[in-house]
Amino acid sequence: MASPSGCRWLLALTAVLAAALVVVHLVFLTQRAVQSAPAASTHTASVAFAAGVGSTGPRTGSSNYQSHCASCHGTGGKGDGWTAWLYRLKMRDLTDAAYVQTLRDNYMFQIIKHGGASLGKPGMPSWSQELDDREIRDLVVHIRSLAPPPQQPQATGSPR
Ligand code: HEC
Repeated sequence: MASPSGCRWLLALTAVLAAALVVVHLVFLTQRAVQSAPAASTHTASVAFAAGVGSTGPRTGSSNYQSHCASCHGTGGKGDGWTAWLYRLKMRDLTDAAYVQTLRDNYMFQIIKHGGASLGKPGMPSWSQELDDREIRDLVVHIRSLAPPPQQPQATGSPR
């Protein structure tokens, strides 16, 4: 049995929660609108770089990145995506060439495919359900194109 003042308090709490949901939703919609705008081609160098990797289909590394990764890693890779901000995730800067060069292709492939939980980066989700191996390899190439100058893929052969 809630007292009248208890009821008012509950009502206020519900209102605040509803308002918060609306705000989050609006941010989400805005972000979607920003992402669906044609990506500025500041990284034209990556086009030649990615050629021959088979990324000619509609879901290229770049488009997959914008639709699946940018919400956390940021449209440019700086780690300033709104979801990362919302969840207070500590993101690395993927535009830092010196840092990205230390990441091996195979490591990136594994963390994208299986998620970061077993690699000490629990905030990074697994994408094996959404993306096939080719798309994941294209994403690795795309990530290396985010940092100027473009990174060279490391010849690690097949993943694993
Ligand atoms: C829910 C947020 C989120 C999404 C969405 C997300 N990531 Fe991550 N990712 C993280 C976090 C958190 C880390 C660990 C911190 C870091 O390294 O930036 C991480 C780490 C990584 C790393 C390793 C970087 C390193 O420093 O070791 C790669 C590569 C990566 N993500 C690629 C991707 C790709 C590609 C996608 C899209 C298919 C993606 N991520 C989507 C949150 C996310």
